Amino acid sequence: MRMSPKPVQTFRDDFTYSNSPGAVARFPFPFPEDEYRYSVNIEPHVTPGPEGSVFEFLLDIDEHYLSEMAERATVLEENPKRCLAMPHMDLACWDMIERCMTSLAADYPEHFSLQVDGDQWTWENRLLNIKDSFTFGDSSTLPLPPMEYMGRQVQGDFALLDQRDGDLFLDAGIVTCPADWSLAFDAGMSFSEWHGPVPLAHEMGVFDRALKYLTAIPVGRPVRRLNWTLTVNARMDTSPETYPNWGTDRASVTADNVGEKVHLRVELQVLDRMPRSNALMFSIRTFLISFDDLVTNPDWARRMHRVLKTLPPELIEYKGLGRYHDLAVEWLSRFDPAN
Ligand code: HEM
Repeated sequence: MRMSPKPVQTFRDDFTYSNSPGAVARFPFPFPEDEYRYSVNIEPHVTPGPEGSVFEFLLDIDEHYLSEMAERATVLEENPKRCLAMPHMDLACWDMIERCMTSLAADYPEHFSLQVDGDQWTWENRLLNIKDSFTFGDSSTLPLPPMEYMGRQVQGDFALLDQRDGDLFLDAGIVTCPADWSLAFDAGMSFSEWHGPVPLAHEMGVFDRALKYLTAIPVGRPVRRLNWTLTVNARMDTSPETYPNWGTDRASVTADNVGEKVHLRVELQVLDRMPRSNALMFSIRTFLISFDDLVTNPDWARRMHRVLKTLPPELIEYKGLGRYHDLAVEWLSRFDPAN
Protein backbone atom coordinates (compact mmCIF):
# COMPACT_ATOMS: atom_id res chain seq x y z
CA MET A 1 0.00 0.00 0.00
CA ARG A 2 1.34 3.46 -0.95
CA MET A 3 1.56 5.73 2.13
CA SER A 4 0.07 9.22 1.78
CA PRO A 5 1.59 11.93 3.96
CA LYS A 6 -0.68 12.94 6.81
CA PRO A 7 -0.89 16.32 8.58
CA VAL A 8 2.06 17.41 10.74
CA GLN A 9 2.57 15.55 14.02
CA THR A 10 5.26 16.32 16.61
CA PHE A 11 8.44 14.54 17.73
CA ARG A 12 8.87 16.74 20.83
CA ASP A 13 6.86 18.49 23.56
CA ASP A 14 3.38 16.88 23.24
CA PHE A 15 4.65 13.98 21.02
CA THR A 16 1.58 13.58 18.81
CA TYR A 17 3.49 11.23 16.45
CA SER A 18 1.64 8.00 15.74
CA ASN A 19 1.77 5.15 13.23
CA SER A 20 -1.30 4.11 11.25
CA PRO A 21 -1.99 0.34 11.00
CA GLY A 22 -0.49 0.48 7.49
CA ALA A 23 2.73 2.03 8.83
CA VAL A 24 2.94 -0.60 11.58
CA ALA A 25 2.49 -3.37 8.99
CA ARG A 26 5.44 -2.12 6.89
CA PHE A 27 7.73 -1.33 9.85
CA PRO A 28 11.24 -2.68 9.13
CA PHE A 29 11.57 -5.01 12.11
CA PRO A 30 15.33 -5.59 12.16
CA PHE A 31 15.95 -8.93 13.88
CA PRO A 32 16.44 -12.11 11.80
CA GLU A 33 17.22 -14.12 14.98
CA ASP A 34 16.36 -14.21 18.69
CA GLU A 35 19.82 -12.92 19.63
CA TYR A 36 21.42 -9.75 18.35
CA ARG A 37 25.16 -9.37 17.82
CA TYR A 38 27.09 -6.91 15.67
CA SER A 39 27.90 -8.23 12.20
CA VAL A 40 28.63 -6.96 8.68
CA ASN A 41 24.91 -6.98 7.88
CA ILE A 42 25.16 -5.37 4.44
CA GLU A 43 23.08 -6.55 1.45
CA PRO A 44 22.32 -5.26 -2.05
CA HIS A 45 19.54 -2.64 -2.12
CA VAL A 46 17.88 -3.97 -5.25
CA THR A 47 15.02 -1.75 -6.42
CA PRO A 48 12.18 -2.00 -6.94
CA GLY A 49 11.89 -4.13 -3.79
CA PRO A 50 8.63 -5.67 -2.55
CA GLU A 51 5.71 -3.38 -3.39
CA GLY A 52 4.66 -1.12 -0.54
CA SER A 53 7.63 -2.13 1.63
CA VAL A 54 10.23 0.34 2.91
CA PHE A 55 12.67 -1.40 0.53
CA GLU A 56 10.65 -0.67 -2.62
CA PHE A 57 12.60 2.42 -3.71
CA LEU A 58 15.97 4.07 -3.21
CA LEU A 59 14.33 6.64 -0.88
CA ASP A 60 11.24 5.85 1.17
CA ILE A 61 8.55 8.52 1.49
CA ASP A 62 5.75 7.67 3.94
CA GLU A 63 2.92 9.14 5.98
CA HIS A 64 5.38 11.01 8.24
CA TYR A 65 6.87 13.11 5.42
CA LEU A 66 5.39 16.48 6.44
CA SER A 67 6.09 15.88 10.15
CA GLU A 68 9.73 14.95 9.53
CA MET A 69 10.32 17.91 7.22
CA ALA A 70 8.80 20.27 9.82
CA GLU A 71 10.98 18.73 12.54
CA ARG A 72 14.09 19.12 10.35
CA ALA A 73 13.30 22.79 9.76
CA THR A 74 12.93 23.34 13.52
CA VAL A 75 16.24 21.62 14.32
CA LEU A 76 18.10 23.61 11.64
CA GLU A 77 16.64 26.81 12.98
CA GLU A 78 17.82 25.91 16.49
CA ASN A 79 21.27 24.82 15.29
CA PRO A 80 22.39 25.49 11.70
CA LYS A 81 25.52 23.37 12.31
CA ARG A 82 23.44 20.22 11.81
CA CYS A 83 24.11 20.80 8.14
CA LEU A 84 27.70 21.01 7.06
CA ALA A 85 29.52 20.60 3.74
CA MET A 86 33.25 21.12 3.30
CA PRO A 87 34.08 23.07 0.10
CA HIS A 88 35.62 20.04 -1.67
CA MET A 89 32.24 18.24 -1.34
CA ASP A 90 30.40 20.64 -3.66
CA LEU A 91 30.34 18.16 -6.56
CA ALA A 92 29.12 15.39 -4.24
CA CYS A 93 26.26 17.67 -3.11
CA TRP A 94 25.20 18.10 -6.74
CA ASP A 95 25.47 14.33 -7.23
CA MET A 96 23.07 13.99 -4.30
CA ILE A 97 20.65 16.49 -5.88
CA GLU A 98 20.62 14.51 -9.12
CA ARG A 99 20.21 11.11 -7.45
CA CYS A 100 17.45 12.26 -5.12
CA MET A 101 15.49 14.31 -7.65
CA THR A 102 15.58 11.70 -10.41
CA SER A 103 14.59 8.84 -8.12
CA LEU A 104 11.89 10.76 -6.22
CA ALA A 105 10.33 11.97 -9.50
CA ALA A 106 10.40 8.45 -10.99
CA ASP A 107 9.15 6.65 -7.87
CA TYR A 108 6.57 9.18 -6.56
CA PRO A 109 5.30 11.02 -9.68
CA GLU A 110 2.16 12.06 -7.79
CA HIS A 111 4.32 14.18 -5.43
CA PHE A 112 7.48 15.17 -7.32
CA SER A 113 8.46 16.08 -10.87
CA LEU A 114 11.68 17.01 -12.62
CA GLN A 115 12.21 18.56 -16.05
CA VAL A 116 15.72 18.47 -17.47
CA ASP A 117 16.74 20.55 -20.46
CA GLY A 118 20.53 20.38 -20.67
CA ASP A 119 21.76 22.04 -17.48
CA GLN A 120 18.44 23.90 -17.00
CA TRP A 121 16.42 21.92 -14.43
CA THR A 122 12.95 22.52 -13.00
CA TRP A 123 12.01 20.69 -9.80
CA GLU A 124 8.56 20.57 -8.32
CA ASN A 125 7.69 19.21 -4.87
CA ARG A 126 3.92 19.34 -4.55
CA LEU A 127 3.94 18.16 -0.91
CA LEU A 128 5.88 21.24 0.23
CA ASN A 129 4.66 23.61 -2.51
CA ILE A 130 8.13 24.11 -3.93
CA LYS A 131 8.86 24.82 -7.60
CA ASP A 132 12.31 26.01 -8.62
CA SER A 133 14.23 26.33 -11.86
CA PHE A 134 18.02 26.31 -11.60
CA THR A 135 21.24 25.65 -13.48
CA PHE A 136 22.59 22.23 -12.55
CA GLY A 137 25.99 22.59 -10.88
CA ASP A 138 25.64 26.33 -10.17
CA SER A 139 24.87 26.74 -6.46
CA SER A 140 24.11 30.44 -6.89
CA THR A 141 20.92 29.52 -8.80
CA LEU A 142 19.36 27.63 -5.84
CA PRO A 143 17.70 29.33 -2.83
CA LEU A 144 19.85 27.25 -0.42
CA PRO A 145 23.18 25.38 -0.63
CA PRO A 146 22.54 22.20 -2.69
CA MET A 147 22.73 19.54 0.05
CA GLU A 148 20.59 21.60 2.42
CA TYR A 149 18.08 22.34 -0.35
CA MET A 150 17.66 18.63 -1.05
CA GLY A 151 17.98 17.46 2.55
CA ARG A 152 15.05 19.63 3.61
CA GLN A 153 12.85 17.76 1.12
CA VAL A 154 13.67 14.12 1.80
CA GLN A 155 13.08 12.02 4.91
CA GLY A 156 16.13 10.71 6.76
CA ASP A 157 19.56 12.08 7.61
CA PHE A 158 22.27 12.15 4.95
CA ALA A 159 26.05 11.99 5.05
CA LEU A 160 28.34 12.36 2.05
CA LEU A 161 31.57 10.42 2.45
CA ASP A 162 34.66 11.44 0.54
CA GLN A 163 36.73 8.43 -0.52
CA ARG A 164 40.52 8.76 -0.52
CA ASP A 165 43.49 6.53 0.42
CA GLY A 166 41.18 3.51 0.69
CA ASP A 167 39.21 5.17 3.49
CA LEU A 168 35.99 7.18 3.91
CA PHE A 169 35.77 10.64 5.46
CA LEU A 170 32.68 12.29 6.89
CA ASP A 171 33.06 15.57 5.02
CA ALA A 172 29.41 16.60 4.51
CA GLY A 173 26.03 15.84 6.01
CA ILE A 174 22.60 17.01 7.07
CA VAL A 175 21.84 15.28 10.35
CA THR A 176 18.83 16.35 12.41
CA CYS A 177 17.66 13.01 13.86
CA PRO A 178 20.80 11.13 14.95
CA ALA A 179 20.79 8.29 17.47
CA ASP A 180 23.13 10.05 19.89
CA TRP A 181 26.01 11.18 17.67
CA SER A 182 27.10 14.58 16.48
CA LEU A 183 27.87 15.60 12.90
CA ALA A 184 29.83 18.65 14.09
CA PHE A 185 31.99 16.38 16.30
CA ASP A 186 32.51 13.64 13.69
CA ALA A 187 33.09 15.97 10.70
CA GLY A 188 36.31 15.17 8.87
CA MET A 189 36.83 11.85 10.69
CA SER A 190 37.68 8.55 8.97
CA PHE A 191 35.48 5.41 9.06
CA SER A 192 37.23 3.83 12.05
CA GLU A 193 37.58 7.17 13.86
CA TRP A 194 33.87 8.05 13.83
CA HIS A 195 33.05 4.46 14.84
CA GLY A 196 35.52 4.78 17.74
CA PRO A 197 32.92 4.66 20.57
CA VAL A 198 31.23 1.44 19.33
CA PRO A 199 32.10 -1.48 21.67
CA LEU A 200 33.10 -5.03 20.60
CA ALA A 201 32.79 -4.47 16.83
CA HIS A 202 36.37 -3.24 16.24
CA GLU A 203 37.89 -6.35 17.87
CA MET A 204 35.54 -8.57 15.86
CA GLY A 205 36.92 -7.08 12.63
CA VAL A 206 33.44 -5.80 11.68
CA PHE A 207 34.63 -2.34 10.68
CA ASP A 208 37.70 -3.52 8.69
CA ARG A 209 35.51 -5.85 6.63
CA ALA A 210 32.72 -3.28 6.22
CA LEU A 211 35.17 -0.63 4.98
CA LYS A 212 36.61 -2.99 2.34
CA TYR A 213 33.08 -3.69 1.13
CA LEU A 214 32.06 -0.03 1.07
CA THR A 215 35.09 1.33 -0.78
CA ALA A 216 34.39 -1.18 -3.59
CA ILE A 217 30.72 -0.23 -4.16
CA PRO A 218 30.26 0.67 -7.84
CA VAL A 219 27.89 3.30 -9.30
CA GLY A 220 24.30 2.06 -9.62
CA ARG A 221 24.66 -0.82 -7.11
CA PRO A 222 23.48 0.59 -3.75
CA VAL A 223 23.65 -1.53 -0.61
CA ARG A 224 21.73 -1.34 2.66
CA ARG A 225 21.79 -2.37 6.28
CA LEU A 226 19.54 -1.95 9.31
CA ASN A 227 20.67 -0.56 12.64
CA TRP A 228 18.54 -0.17 15.77
CA THR A 229 18.30 1.23 19.26
CA LEU A 230 15.55 2.18 21.71
CA THR A 231 14.33 5.73 22.32
CA VAL A 232 12.11 7.01 25.11
CA ASN A 233 9.18 8.98 23.61
CA ALA A 234 8.81 9.44 19.86
CA ARG A 235 11.76 11.82 19.75
CA MET A 236 13.61 12.12 16.47
CA ASP A 237 16.34 14.51 17.59
CA THR A 238 18.42 12.56 20.10
CA SER A 239 21.69 14.35 19.42
CA PRO A 240 24.43 15.07 21.98
CA GLU A 241 23.84 18.80 21.32
CA THR A 242 20.31 18.55 22.75
CA TYR A 243 21.05 15.94 25.45
CA PRO A 244 19.71 18.21 28.23
CA ASN A 245 16.29 18.03 26.52
CA TRP A 246 16.05 14.24 26.38
CA GLY A 247 18.62 12.62 28.71
CA THR A 248 16.24 12.63 31.66
CA ASP A 249 13.48 10.95 29.59
CA ARG A 250 15.24 7.66 30.32
CA ALA A 251 14.39 7.98 34.00
CA SER A 252 10.70 8.53 33.20
CA VAL A 253 10.02 4.90 32.18
CA THR A 254 7.95 2.95 34.72
CA ALA A 255 6.39 -0.54 34.73
CA ASP A 256 3.09 1.09 33.74
CA ASN A 257 4.21 3.22 30.81
CA VAL A 258 6.75 1.00 28.97
CA GLY A 259 4.35 0.26 26.09
CA GLU A 260 3.61 3.88 25.44
CA LYS A 261 7.03 5.44 26.18
CA VAL A 262 9.60 3.00 24.84
CA HIS A 263 10.05 3.02 21.07
CA LEU A 264 12.07 0.72 18.85
CA ARG A 265 14.09 2.98 16.59
CA VAL A 266 15.26 1.43 13.33
CA GLU A 267 17.57 3.01 10.80
CA LEU A 268 17.41 1.87 7.20
CA GLN A 269 20.86 2.85 5.96
CA VAL A 270 21.55 2.93 2.23
CA LEU A 271 24.97 3.48 0.66
CA ASP A 272 25.11 4.64 -2.92
CA ARG A 273 28.15 5.56 -5.08
CA MET A 274 27.96 9.01 -6.66
CA PRO A 275 29.00 9.14 -10.33
CA ARG A 276 30.86 12.48 -10.64
CA SER A 277 32.57 12.87 -7.26
CA ASN A 278 33.07 9.15 -6.39
CA ALA A 279 31.65 10.04 -2.94
CA LEU A 280 29.34 7.63 -1.12
CA MET A 281 25.89 8.92 -0.23
CA PHE A 282 24.80 7.45 3.10
CA SER A 283 21.13 7.87 3.91
CA ILE A 284 19.81 7.07 7.38
CA ARG A 285 16.04 6.73 7.27
CA THR A 286 14.71 6.47 10.84
CA PHE A 287 11.51 4.61 11.75
CA LEU A 288 9.96 4.74 15.24
CA ILE A 289 7.39 2.34 16.69
CA SER A 290 6.02 2.28 20.24
CA PHE A 291 6.21 -1.03 22.11
CA ASP A 292 2.39 -0.91 22.30
CA ASP A 293 2.23 -0.97 18.49
CA LEU A 294 5.12 -3.43 18.17
CA VAL A 295 3.45 -6.09 20.31
CA THR A 296 0.39 -6.13 18.05
CA ASN A 297 2.58 -8.51 16.02
CA PRO A 298 3.13 -11.60 18.23
CA ASP A 299 6.28 -12.69 16.35
CA TRP A 300 7.87 -9.27 16.84
CA ALA A 301 6.84 -9.16 20.52
CA ARG A 302 8.40 -12.54 21.28
CA ARG A 303 11.59 -11.80 19.40
CA MET A 304 11.99 -8.31 20.89
CA HIS A 305 11.81 -9.88 24.34
CA ARG A 306 14.49 -12.46 23.53
CA VAL A 307 16.81 -9.94 21.85
CA LEU A 308 16.68 -7.54 24.79
CA LYS A 309 17.01 -10.31 27.36
CA THR A 310 20.20 -11.64 25.75
CA LEU A 311 21.75 -8.31 24.76
CA PRO A 312 25.40 -8.11 25.91
CA PRO A 313 25.96 -5.62 28.77
CA GLU A 314 28.36 -3.60 26.59
CA LEU A 315 25.56 -2.97 24.09
CA ILE A 316 23.03 -2.14 26.81
CA GLU A 317 25.39 0.51 28.04
CA TYR A 318 26.47 1.85 24.63
CA LYS A 319 22.87 2.15 23.44
CA GLY A 320 21.95 4.00 26.65
CA LEU A 321 19.35 1.46 27.81
CA GLY A 322 20.70 0.89 31.33
CA ARG A 323 18.04 2.89 33.18
CA TYR A 324 15.06 0.97 31.78
CA HIS A 325 16.38 -2.25 30.23
CA ASP A 326 15.10 -4.50 33.04
CA LEU A 327 11.66 -2.85 32.99
CA ALA A 328 11.41 -3.34 29.23
CA VAL A 329 12.43 -7.02 29.41
CA GLU A 330 9.94 -7.64 32.21
CA TRP A 331 7.13 -5.88 30.32
CA LEU A 332 7.85 -7.83 27.11
CA SER A 333 8.09 -11.20 28.92
CA ARG A 334 4.27 -11.53 29.00
CA PHE A 335 4.33 -11.80 25.19
CA ASP A 336 6.85 -14.66 25.15
CA PRO A 337 5.25 -18.09 25.65
CA ALA A 338 8.65 -19.63 26.47
CA ASN A 339 8.91 -17.43 29.50
C1 HEM B 1 27.42 3.41 14.81
C2 HEM B 1 28.15 6.38 11.08
C3 HEM B 1 28.42 2.65 8.06
C4 HEM B 1 28.14 -0.33 11.81
C5 HEM B 1 27.66 4.53 14.06
C6 HEM B 1 27.75 5.86 14.58
C7 HEM B 1 27.95 6.69 13.54
C8 HEM B 1 28.00 5.89 12.35
C9 HEM B 1 28.13 8.20 13.56
C10 HEM B 1 27.63 6.29 16.06
C11 HEM B 1 28.98 6.20 16.71
C12 HEM B 1 29.00 6.89 18.06
O1 HEM B 1 28.59 6.27 19.05
O2 HEM B 1 29.42 8.05 18.13
C13 HEM B 1 28.26 5.63 9.95
C14 HEM B 1 28.44 6.17 8.62
C15 HEM B 1 28.53 5.12 7.77
C16 HEM B 1 28.40 3.92 8.57
C17 HEM B 1 28.50 7.66 8.26
C18 HEM B 1 28.72 5.20 6.28
C19 HEM B 1 29.81 4.82 5.69
C20 HEM B 1 28.39 1.52 8.82
C21 HEM B 1 28.47 0.19 8.28
C22 HEM B 1 28.41 -0.66 9.32
C23 HEM B 1 28.27 0.15 10.54
C24 HEM B 1 28.59 -0.17 6.81
C25 HEM B 1 28.47 -2.15 9.18
C26 HEM B 1 28.87 -2.99 10.03
C27 HEM B 1 27.86 0.43 12.93
C28 HEM B 1 27.51 -0.14 14.23
C29 HEM B 1 27.29 0.93 15.09
C30 HEM B 1 27.52 2.13 14.30
C31 HEM B 1 27.42 -1.62 14.57
C32 HEM B 1 26.82 0.85 16.53
C33 HEM B 1 25.31 1.06 16.50
C34 HEM B 1 24.54 0.72 17.77
O3 HEM B 1 24.82 -0.27 18.44
O4 HEM B 1 23.55 1.42 18.05
N1 HEM B 1 27.83 4.57 12.69
N2 HEM B 1 28.24 4.27 9.89
N3 HEM B 1 28.26 1.47 10.19
N4 HEM B 1 27.83 1.78 13.00
FE1 HEM B 1 28.08 3.00 11.46
